[in-house]
Amino acid sequence: MARKWWKESVVYQIYPRSFMDSNGDGIGDLRGIISKLDYLKELGVDVIWLSPVYRSPNDDNGYDISDYQAIMDEFGTMQDWEELLAEVHQRGMKLIMDLVVNHSSDEHPWFVEARRSKDNPYRDFYFWRPGKDGAEPNNWESCFSGSAWEYDEATGEYYLHLFSKKQPDLNWENPKLRRAVYDMMTWWLDKGIDGFRMDVINFISKDPDLPDVPNPEGKRYVFGGQYFMNGPRIHEFLQEMHKEVLSKYDVMTVGEMPGVTPEEAILYTAEDRGELNMVFQFEHMELDSGPGGKWDVKPWQLKDLKAVMTKWQKALENKGWNSLYLNNHDQPRMVSRFGDDTKYREESAKMLATFLHLMQGTPFIYQGEEIGMTNVRFASIEDYKDIETLNMVREKAVENGEDMQKVMRAIHMKGRDNARTPVQWDDTKHAGFTTGTPWISVNPNYKEVNVKQALLNPNSVYHYYKKLIQLRRQHEIIVYGTYDLILENHEQIYAYTRTLGDEKLVVICNFFNGTPCFELPTHLRSYEKCELIVANYEGDGSGDLENMVLRPYEARVYRLVY
Ligand code: NOJ
Repeated sequence: MARKWWKESVVYQIYPRSFMDSNGDGIGDLRGIISKLDYLKELGVDVIWLSPVYRSPNDDNGYDISDYQAIMDEFGTMQDWEELLAEVHQRGMKLIMDLVVNHSSDEHPWFVEARRSKDNPYRDFYFWRPGKDGAEPNNWESCFSGSAWEYDEATGEYYLHLFSKKQPDLNWENPKLRRAVYDMMTWWLDKGIDGFRMDVINFISKDPDLPDVPNPEGKRYVFGGQYFMNGPRIHEFLQEMHKEVLSKYDVMTVGEMPGVTPEEAILYTAEDRGELNMVFQFEHMELDSGPGGKWDVKPWQLKDLKAVMTKWQKALENKGWNSLYLNNHDQPRMVSRFGDDTKYREESAKMLATFLHLMQGTPFIYQGEEIGMTNVRFASIEDYKDIETLNMVREKAVENGEDMQKVMRAIHMKGRDNARTPVQWDDTKHAGFTTGTPWISVNPNYKEVNVKQALLNPNSVYHYYKKLIQLRRQHEIIVYGTYDLILENHEQIYAYTRTLGDEKLVVICNFFNGTPCFELPTHLRSYEKCELIVANYEGDGSGDLENMVLRPYEARVYRLVY
């Protein structure tokens, strides 16, 4: 397998609006990020991924871009951004930017032009269609509820928006649009960035007929993913992007890809195909969704987590490359979702980190994860800011009369604002995030959960992450070893091995608060040397691998030499 820096790296995601505010307006900004770079360097991360910082009317917090080559006023200036890049590089870290080119903002000059007239030169930068039988051109549902089409008075046609109506989809069939995107990417790469995270990049090729989704249940709108996820020209577009742009730089790329299968992911990431380095897949993020989708919350099952993670680890082995994540700005906090965010918050946060970071792939840490930040439970819907959540409330509670308490429960578990409360830096007002009023309230647990505390306590989640990151540098096997699941049917323990040459790692994770017994499978017992390399409980470094009672949420990693 080819050795690459982006396989050996740990990435830290910053959601700038919620990271650190430097000027007291309540909104995180670039100078705030600069002020925390030493903290990130100390943590040991190699790469920083910045969620969008471009000019935007902020309908979807920067994922609606009105100028791809300018910085959002609230975040600072291009000079601030240049200083940020220089400071990141000076500390030996890298910076990757978010590339949001499935859609732009409706305030982007391309769309402003496009909506003027049917023969405007920018018209075909977007998807325009006449209505059908006095209604929308097809029955597709937006990812943010309601129809994926918006009627535009000026020309009497509808435009497609898979997300909010202020995020019209760009038409990749149009070579002029593709050229414009490639030029913009080149402009950023020439400024010295180290790669891109690509927003819903497997949505850019749509079935050209934009057909109706079969709708036996007679729903008003239906998710049309089969007609735009991994669409007919997707590999052609990505190969063209690679040839025209990416191949000219030594950069890292990760494509966000809802609905991607392992088979598709191999096509996207195989090194000889010239597309992307890795993808974000979503299967493990869907384990607690019922048939009604994201908001139809059901308990996740350990056996399903084992099946999904193992499927991805094995499928991409020697064929592609995995990214590893358990949360980001769109997902609930991992410790609340897969661990225990009360009594065993620290133990379970460390266990989950062990579980993830010891797998094969490039780990992504989402801001605040490294101190074990948790979900938030705002009592009032007024405290929520996310467009996805608010649109859902409008549709479910207001239009369909669903019980508001039930809706709030789903928001508490799944809402994106769980991840977007400000980073908790210390125990002063607003957790030290801002001297003003934060754009979204701080999680009330900031007095207990904050960076200042975590730095002072040698046993904190933070120090554990630091150790995991260092281990990756010391042991090649963590990056390149092959993965195998063991104890497949155990109901409480997730355990696996990694193998490289005559060396193995045994990763043992107790996913619950019981005290199950771990027994190393007999075929693995003939080792000559055994050493504990990391564990989330103090003391007792020995342990009998053939008969080991684990404590609640205990995680241990042994290195065996055969
Ligand atoms: C995925 C992004 O991560 C999410 O935050 C955004 O709302 C959608 N794509 C649309 O850009």
